[in-house]
Amino acid sequence: MSVCSAPGRVCLFGEHAVVYGEPAIACAISLRAKVSAKKSKKTEIKPNTARKSPYVLNAVEEMRTLVGFEDVSINVTSEVPVASGLGSSAAITVATLGALNKEFCAGLTDREIAALSHKVERSVQGLASPMDTMTSALGGVLVIPDGRKLKNINCDIVVGNTGARSDTREQVRKVAVFKKKYPDVTSQIIKTIGSITCAGENLIARGDCERTGKLMNMNHMLLDALGVGCSELTALADAARKGGALGAKITGAGGGGCIVSITRQPDVTARAIKKAGGVPIKTKISEGLKYE
Ligand code: MEV
Repeated sequence: MSVCSAPGRVCLFGEHAVVYGEPAIACAISLRAKVSAKKSKKTEIKPNTARKSPYVLNAVEEMRTLVGFEDVSINVTSEVPVASGLGSSAAITVATLGALNKEFCAGLTDREIAALSHKVERSVQGLASPMDTMTSALGGVLVIPDGRKLKNINCDIVVGNTGARSDTREQVRKVAVFKKKYPDVTSQIIKTIGSITCAGENLIARGDCERTGKLMNMNHMLLDALGVGCSELTALADAARKGGALGAKITGAGGGGCIVSITRQPDVTARAIKKAGGVPIKTKISEGLKYE
């Protein structure tokens, strides 16, 4: 039996804009999905859920095409909340391909697993950037799409979960419709998010968390302008800032799900998020795909 784990992620800058070719910066976090793969007499997935199984089945098919095995039994467990903007499907896809890679001695590198996982996400979801799968496979703080590693940010990360589900496909479609209706304005917003990401990269490289936080706040407002915000997300972002966060923004597709904040007072920020009705998650920057 082969076991692999892979992390969820937060997006510090650039979600949605990354779908249109702008850069993004994402960061692997300490919540992980764990998958075991074992040669078997029939192919089965445990637990067999409507949300996770399409990614796992698709990953099995991709690996079968590469190395030509018969059947496999897959077991999935995950700490990453689903439909919450924390990259749970990418974590499951990357961990599944990692476990299959080991079980069937496919010899894929982490970057090859990232690319194959992106292919799986695209087939299941339709439009998907490489952000979630690449961050889960490679870990750390990454500039997408090239996968350049940045140094770890020098402050704490506190996530706030609204508890409202976020549907990536629906939110990505919403931005596409917005872009069709208001092409010039939407393109400007997307370009500006790209500029914020570039400025954010320099600030992270210089270790300037204060100004990185300010740019995260601006990025939040532009995501709101793209129509993927909601009152619960803005309430948690405001609460995090009032609770000492240097910056806070939507992470992932939006429309529900989570905010991410950076802070030097993680306990105070977490308490403020809780008081505002969210579930705080204190997390850390994490490594990528791991063969257990
Ligand atoms: C969702 O995980 C992040 C989005 O930018 C979509 C994508 O990058 O595929 C909204």
